[in-house]
Amino acid sequence: MTSRAELEARGGEIPLPGRMISNSELETARVELIRTSVAYSRVECDFGASKGKFLTESAVANPDVFFAGIEGLSDRVGRANRKIGRLGLGNALLWRGWGKESLDALVPDGFLDTLHVSFPDPWPKRRHWFRRLVNVEFLSVSARKLKSTGTLRLQTDHPGYFASMQEQLALHGGWIEVPWEDGLVRPVTEFETIFRAKGEPIGRIAVRRG
Ligand SMILES: C[S@@+](CC[C@H](N)C(=O)[O-])C[C@H]1O[C@@H](n2cnc3c(N)ncnc32)[C@H](O)[C@@H]1O
Repeated sequence: MTSRAELEARGGEIPLPGRMISNSELETARVELIRTSVAYSRVECDFGASKGKFLTESAVANPDVFFAGIEGLSDRVGRANRKIGRLGLGNALLWRGWGKESLDALVPDGFLDTLHVSFPDPWPKRRHWFRRLVNVEFLSVSARKLKSTGTLRLQTDHPGYFASMQEQLALHGGWIEVPWEDGLVRPVTEFETIFRAKGEPIGRIAVRRG
């Protein structure tokens, strides 16, 4: 793990959040994440944050917590960061990144209190399952990024993907389920609003390392 002091010392040009940036630039953006979040009691990451509804509402409702977002589509990152600017929020920021590699590049090891993965693309066809985000490799990076007491929160509307998430957790090993309710205000995500309106069941699991 790179220490905060080393990252601080690295300094240099920090990429603007929301630009199309490479994973090597995301490593530099780590410095910005560390600098902007250092004053907060907890740091959480929303992976696949879309236009930032959950992230911004979480930041408003939990002012002691810093919320970092990673989202693959730059227009969504831009919209979310503009909203954060309009609301004057100091405790939220999104970066553009793709896949587990971006989580690995942006977030220092042992940094996160909570990692949210809400309604990742389900890729329902069997021939596309290899594209699903939540697999053993993603869980391995997630485990490294979380503090020893940190929590991974997964939710999906797709029953097959929920079963797969549970299988992948068991396959990766060392995770224990913890209560979903964790005492913080957890706003409804953008996609959850859609699925709730359709009355679709939602699979949820919160886990931490055992
Ligand atoms: C179905 S949406 C869910 C958005 C949000 N989490 C919610 O609950 O409303 C999935 C989001 O993840 C992003 N995404 C999908 N695959 C990704 C990947 N491999 N890396 C980063 N973002 C990804 C998509 O661009 C999209 O915004």
